[in-house]
Amino acid sequence: MPDAVPVVALGRPVIFLGPPGAGKGTQARQVAQSYGVPHLSTGDMFRDHVGRGTPLGRRAKPIMERGELVPDDLVMSMVEERISRPDCANGFVLDGFPRTLPQARKLDEILGTRPNGEPLVVHFVVDPAQLMRRLTGRRTCAVGGEIYNIHDHPPKVAGRCDHDGGELMQRADDREEVIAERMAAYERQTRPLVDYYRGRGVLRDLDGMAAPAEVTRRIFGLLAAQPEKSR
Ligand code: AP5
Ligand code: MG
Repeated sequence: MPDAVPVVALGRPVIFLGPPGAGKGTQARQVAQSYGVPHLSTGDMFRDHVGRGTPLGRRAKPIMERGELVPDDLVMSMVEERISRPDCANGFVLDGFPRTLPQARKLDEILGTRPNGEPLVVHFVVDPAQLMRRLTGRRTCAVGGEIYNIHDHPPKVAGRCDHDGGELMQRADDREEVIAERMAAYERQTRPLVDYYRGRGVLRDLDGMAAPAEVTRRIFGLLAAQPEKSR
């Protein structure tokens, strides 16, 4: 648990951008909880739809199993509805969205109509050699979503969540061949967003190689140094 705790409201959208396994979900849970704002992971939303067998989940499932990106129109309608809810009025953390230039441009349009809509983009920089180890070792609690790693952050009891005793699951897309495709999709479709947001002056690089608590401290530092802005 980090020493630093936020003393101000988040007050705006924060986007966590980075490759699979960079630590976006681990940090987004922590930061959103500390600021009392929603953590919006499009990956988690799709996995929820897949688990419930909704029409959206049935379309997304085979695409996610191949490690490809779900089409922009399906992503956008889901996100637009979610961020229009009242709990997003004081800021929110976007994890894994946007991931294509069309998604980023559409998000700009939506945020442009809101007060304090200018986002801060936190770009996770992690040595590629670390990513495969992190992803193949990841286990996630089926109940509360807590994220573990069998190598670096194991649970106290194998296969069980420390917090609620829930079963720890391996994600269907955390097999090596699917991970390789997810990495390729990141390079092809998502990495261009780094230049897109850097050019706008709203992106900050984050060294994501330190231990999770240290990374959290660094994020708090970035957020504290970037006062809330209006468009
Ligand atoms: P999504 O769920 O977003 O997956 P991802 O982007 O591939 O990222 P991950 O969740 O794998 O990694 P993470 O950065 O969250 O790492 P984590 O914190 O878990 O998307 C899945 C799929 O959904 C996509 O492939 C696509 O099909 C679809 N999709 C989702 N959004 C979409 C969109 N916008 N458009 C189109 N399609 C979309 O950490 C990983 C591991 O590392 C854990 O074991 C953790 O314990 C460990 N770890 C974390 N931090 C550290 C640290 N500092 N040091 C050591 N280990 C660490
Ligand atoms: Mg994640």
